[in-house]
Amino acid sequence: MNVQIDHSLEEIRRFRPSPEFAAQAVAGPELAEAASADRLAFWADQARSLLTWSTPFTRTLDWSNPPFAKWFDDGELNVAANCLDRHVEAGNGDRVALYFEGEPGDSRAITYAELTAEVKRAANVLIGLGVKPGDRVAVYLPLIPEAVIAMLAIARVGAIHSVVFGGFSADSLASRIDDAEASVVITADGGYRKGKVFPLKPTVDEAVAKSAGSVGHVLVVRRGENEVDWVEGRDHWWHELAAEASDEHEAPAFNAEHPLFILYTSGTTGKPKGILHTSGGYLTQAAFTHRNVFDLHPERDVYWCTADVGWITGHSYVVYGPLANGATQVIYEGTPDTPHPGRWWEIIEKYGVTIFYTAPTAIRSFMKAGRQIPQSFNLRTLRVLGSVGEPINPEAWIWYRHVIGGGSIPVVDTWWQTETGAIMISALPGITDLKPGSAQVPVPGISIDVLTDEGDPVDGTSGGLLTVTEPWPSMLRGIWGDPERFQETYWAKFGDRYFAGDGARRDEDGDIWLLGRVDDVMNVSGHRLSTAEIESSLVAHPLTAEAAVVGASDETTGQAVVAFVILKDRQVSAASDTEATSQELRAHVAKEIGAIARPRQVFIVNELPKTRSGKIMRRLLRDLAEGREVGDTTTLADTSIMEIISAQVR
Ligand code: WT7
Repeated sequence: MNVQIDHSLEEIRRFRPSPEFAAQAVAGPELAEAASADRLAFWADQARSLLTWSTPFTRTLDWSNPPFAKWFDDGELNVAANCLDRHVEAGNGDRVALYFEGEPGDSRAITYAELTAEVKRAANVLIGLGVKPGDRVAVYLPLIPEAVIAMLAIARVGAIHSVVFGGFSADSLASRIDDAEASVVITADGGYRKGKVFPLKPTVDEAVAKSAGSVGHVLVVRRGENEVDWVEGRDHWWHELAAEASDEHEAPAFNAEHPLFILYTSGTTGKPKGILHTSGGYLTQAAFTHRNVFDLHPERDVYWCTADVGWITGHSYVVYGPLANGATQVIYEGTPDTPHPGRWWEIIEKYGVTIFYTAPTAIRSFMKAGRQIPQSFNLRTLRVLGSVGEPINPEAWIWYRHVIGGGSIPVVDTWWQTETGAIMISALPGITDLKPGSAQVPVPGISIDVLTDEGDPVDGTSGGLLTVTEPWPSMLRGIWGDPERFQETYWAKFGDRYFAGDGARRDEDGDIWLLGRVDDVMNVSGHRLSTAEIESSLVAHPLTAEAAVVGASDETTGQAVVAFVILKDRQVSAASDTEATSQELRAHVAKEIGAIARPRQVFIVNELPKTRSGKIMRRLLRDLAEGREVGDTTTLADTSIMEIISAQVR
């Protein structure tokens, strides 16, 4: 009982910004005042002051055809030049852009002048391979400087990147190549993970062979020094073409609504959605939030976001936001515990990191390992901590602030999505009284509401559905090749208000608390997975007749994938060893989709709980997976089913 009282006390704790922090903070109360006085004028000001336009815009927002928004659409800019050339031209060419730390311990410091030259070279390489504005280029790389260089080079020539996380399978890569009809794939021989070289090129070879044939060239970075197969004429070493390419390249100007990238994310169906982002609005909000949410002082801060560029966090807060702002940042190739469990803290000490952005799942696994590990490193350079990907529980928030942050620095919990492109809800560290566990307030210029299922404002502090009520600069512009799915998924429910798919509530102070997904999307270690996608992978296995997947709460990963599988009749005897069968099915999903999708558990059962209309009641399976009393079963076609399944699971 006492423990519970402590918990609830903790949750209503507030931490006021220190006067010293507030005095030097980049964001003051005038931001929110300006945004609420005139939202569009506010965003136009941000776009003008944070970015350099080749052709200034005169129109801020065109919302005449919702949900298809256009921002700054008579303006022109080059996104890569905004992240590179202009910093060099402003005299900051010698500032370090990237401190790269490889897993084996190799490191490289790359200045803005060097990064600009590398990107120009890579742009010339792409042009030499025939890449034209609007073409799609897939990127399948470890987190090495070439990943950042590749993305910026693609953007620089006006092509569209589709970064695919290096942990995804050949099938996943092939379907993304096909959906976007990518003409070039940029990959590496391999990268370092957990002390070993993890090969990437064979996966690309397999994916390209499986794909429909759009890929003409594969550009291969040498990193792992592992043996690779080679297709003459199709495959090229990055370092060979780059050495021959000129480092002169004039960045052409593109329309503000020119597509910048596609990034695939899981939805409620089996097929991942290609979320489309464009240039001017995206870069404006990425730069604005990076500067104000993290209190960035580019001339003195060392920033580190631990995300991989395969996720939206890596796009907006490793590549575009920080580089548009001229920040100095760390990128690290490997896993947090290689070669020792203090590797991350060692990196913070080594580079004097001041701003650190990571995910609750990582924080919770460090909590488990114990505070002695971080406490044996000097972390006193840190001054802002950020969290993203899932709700951060108050215990983890407090631990993060105390053990990593030394007890007195701000922790900002940032809510956003692949679709929103940039942070939407977060405290501002010099202004907001911090409340552990709550994402708190919309960023200035963002309009959020919590609505009932019918679209009415909720009563007081009750839970409801999170919506964005006005268009925002970095909003997705669509789903690649599927405008109907775009409309249906996000806009059909509430008209011209965006439905995020998250539950939320506002407390007495108006602070927003996120309550998790309300659809069939799971969040495992801050990564989005679709129940339908994993189910269809399971039923593609010859042993499986039917499958249901749920996200069960998990102490470390937030949620974990738990599958319930019915085997085909004739396979039951062949699969008499249920333990071996469930291992096989787990491995099958990891191979088909990627290791992040591997179920924590696969239960072999004879029945699944279904309503009279045949819909699987996942809610009941979740009760089972979380070890709870099974809830209301009265709508089941056969109410005794859950007892049978429970008995099989135990
Ligand atoms: C989903 C978006 C945003 C980059 C990483 C994930 C959940 C994200 C928070 C947070 C509570 C969060 C939501 C959202 N989520 N951040 N601070 N508090 N929930 O991007 O893969 O597009 O997933 O992640 O459920 O809808 P994503």
